[in-house]
Amino acid sequence: MADHFSFHGVKVTAVGRRQERLDEFCAQHGNEKASGIAFDIEKLDEIPAFVEKCVNGTLLMRTARLTLSSTFKTHPDIDCVFLNAATQARFDFSKPETVDLGALQSQITINFNSQVALVHAMLPHLLSRSSPTGLIFTGSPISLIPVFPMPAYGASKAALESFVLSLREQLRDTNVTVQQISPGPVQTELHDAHAGKEAGRKFGMPMEDFVKESWVGLVDREEDIYPGCVGGSTKEQFLKLVKLRDEASGRMSTLLRSMWTK
Ligand SMILES: NC(=O)c1ccc[n+]([C@@H]2O[C@H](COP(=O)([O-])OP(=O)(O)OC[C@H]3O[C@@H](n4cnc5c(N)ncnc54)[C@H](OP(=O)(O)O)[C@@H]3O)[C@@H](O)[C@H]2O)c1
Repeated sequence: MADHFSFHGVKVTAVGRRQERLDEFCAQHGNEKASGIAFDIEKLDEIPAFVEKCVNGTLLMRTARLTLSSTFKTHPDIDCVFLNAATQARFDFSKPETVDLGALQSQITINFNSQVALVHAMLPHLLSRSSPTGLIFTGSPISLIPVFPMPAYGASKAALESFVLSLREQLRDTNVTVQQISPGPVQTELHDAHAGKEAGRKFGMPMEDFVKESWVGLVDREEDIYPGCVGGSTKEQFLKLVKLRDEASGRMSTLLRSMWTK
């Protein structure tokens, strides 16, 4: 997806833990269009300083070929943050002795708490700009339809989606738009940990299809984009569920606004 953004002329600063991946990305797209910052979003305490330094360009950290400070002095106008990172693993509570609670909590931190902390740290910058800005999240249909072998992943995506919907409502009269892409399975590294590399990378829709469908939705300014299909239900059945939820959520928001403005 970052490649696709870059091919369409969007300047991308990619963040992840693996420096070699970031270097590869920068080498492919060139330093004018791409930069990378190695950061582990699980380090919640470091997020405010990380974002502050990114936005104000004062962090002197070596990236692939230039320092981060020069990245942000060259491209000081970050106007969109795409929150995409997540991890996925199985946990079996019918055999509690096998459940690694630390690993489970770490997954919830990466998939949910870190995203909230990043939003909190980025919003002052996005809100202060006079032009439109955006937050894009990668959600999952699993937020609405639990997949029982992965209880922490589903719970973290449910929490994230609830947060995203509230955030969108809170920001609706501002310059910040909130979009969410919730795909069915996509052929990525996500399934490696529980399905193995070979089977995991063949599971789901090809990356190109996911990118194409998501890109169209983003460009069309759709608030919620649902590429691919949902296991066990037809797309139509799934979208019916989404529609009922959104209608109920709309009624709740109207009610709350009428109560709070009285
Ligand atoms: N693939 C699917 O079937 C599917 C379906 C629905 C939704 N999604 C969602 O799509 C998003 C992307 O997942 P993916 O499928 O592309 O999986 P992926 O191939 O495993 O990619 C996950 C990305 O997150 C980064 N990341 C993970 N933990 C991080 C951390 N602590 N700090 C910084 N970066 C971190 C990884 O980079 P590093 O490892 O270098 O840090 C990697 O770039 C996730 O939100 C996932 O829930 C995926």
